[in-house]
Amino acid sequence: MSNSTTTLPFWDEVVANAQMGHDQKQPFFSMAPMEAVTDTIFRRVVAKAGAPDVYYTEFTNASSMIHPKAKFSVQGRLAVAENEQQPIAQIWGGRPDDIAGAAKLLPSMGYQAVDINMGCPDATVIKNGAGSDLIRHEDLARQIVAAAKQSGLPVSVKTRLGFYKTEEFREWLPIILRQNVAVLTVHLRTRQEMSKVPAHFEFIDDILAMRDDIAPQTLIQINGDIKTRQQGLDLAKAHPGLDGIMIGRGIFENPYAFEKSPRQHTLTESIDLLNLQLDLFDEVNATVTPKHFEALKRYFKIYLRGFAHASALRQMLMETHSTDEVRTVLARELAKVYDAVANDKHIYRDNAAASADMAAATARKVASETD
Ligand SMILES: Cc1cc2nc3c(=O)[nH]c(=O)nc-3n(C[C@H](O)[C@H](O)[C@H](O)COP(=O)(O)O)c2cc1C
Repeated sequence: MSNSTTTLPFWDEVVANAQMGHDQKQPFFSMAPMEAVTDTIFRRVVAKAGAPDVYYTEFTNASSMIHPKAKFSVQGRLAVAENEQQPIAQIWGGRPDDIAGAAKLLPSMGYQAVDINMGCPDATVIKNGAGSDLIRHEDLARQIVAAAKQSGLPVSVKTRLGFYKTEEFREWLPIILRQNVAVLTVHLRTRQEMSKVPAHFEFIDDILAMRDDIAPQTLIQINGDIKTRQQGLDLAKAHPGLDGIMIGRGIFENPYAFEKSPRQHTLTESIDLLNLQLDLFDEVNATVTPKHFEALKRYFKIYLRGFAHASALRQMLMETHSTDEVRTVLARELAKVYDAVANDKHIYRDNAAASADMAAATARKVASETD
C-alpha cells in the first residue's frame, strides 16, 4: 500500500491554504521581513495574536552565512523553533557565488523557499552592491536570481518600484519577471522615497498587466502602507489579479493586524502577548543566541497602548533591565492599571471587554484577600 501523500510545491500550497473555504479568489497574507523584528520570538507572538499565511525571516547576509567566522553571528536570524511554522528565508548580498552558497545551505535547515532582498535602502547594503542597488545593476540582479536557484528552492524577489523614480518600474520589474521567479513582491515606493511618501497603489494594475504579459505563473505580492488584513482584502478586491499582501509596520500599531475576524481585544489579551514575548525572549536567549534586553523595550508600546495610564506603565518598564524586572513591575502595577481603567471609563479598545477584564481583576483581588 502506498502511503505517499501529494504535497504541493511551497507557494502553490500557500495559495491553496489561503483560498480554502472561499469561492472568490483570496490573497495570501504575509508578515514582512523586518530586521531586528521578525525573528523566531516575534513571529511566534504574531502567530498567537493572529497568524498570517506566511512569514519571512529578517534579512540575512549571504556572505556571512558561508564565512567560517561570521556564520555563527547570523545563525540567530535563521533560527526557527520546532513548534513554529517554517518561514521563508530572506537573504541579501551582491555576490552571486555567495548567494548560491548561502541558498544551498537553506534546505538542510528546513527552509522550503528563499527570498532575495532587492529593495533595502540602507547605505551599507547599497555599498555592498546589494539590496536596492540591484535595481541599478540588472545584470547582477539576474545572476543573483540564477545563483539562488541553485539551491533547488523556489526563489522570490522583494524589491521597490525603482531606485530614483517611480517610473523605473516599467523597465525594472519586467527584468525580474523574465527570471521566472515564484513570487515578485513590490514595495510600492522607490529607494529615494524610503518610507516617506504614501505607497503608490496607483501602479498596481500596470504591474499586474506586466505579469500577465511576461510571466503569468509568477505571483504578485504588494507591500507598503497596508495596515490590516481588511485593508488588504479591499485592495485585492479592487485589483483581482493580486496574489499576496504583505504587512510590515501595521503590526506595530495593531498586533492583531492579520486576524481573520477582527474584534476588540482586552488589555489582558495584550498583556498575555507581552508575557509570551518575555518568555520566548528568555528561551531564545538561553538556548539559541544571546538577545539584547534593551531591544525588547521597543515592543512595549505594541502591547501597552490605548488604555488609561498606558504611558505611565510603559515609562516604568523602560527603566527595567531584565525580563524578570518587567514581570515584577507588571505584577505590581497591573491591579492599579485595571482599577484606573475602570475608574476613568477611559477604556482600552472596547468597553465591554475592559469591564470584563476589570471584573476578573476584582474577582482575583477578592480571592487573594480571602485566601
Ligand atoms: C524595522 C524594519 C526593518 C525592516 N527590515 C527589512 C528586511 O530585513 N528586509 C526587507 O526586505 N525589508 C525590510 N523592511 C521593509 C519592510 O519589509 C516593508 O517593505 C516596509 O516596512 C513597507 O511596508 P509597511 O508599510 O507594511 O511597513 C524593514 C522595515 C522596518 C520598519
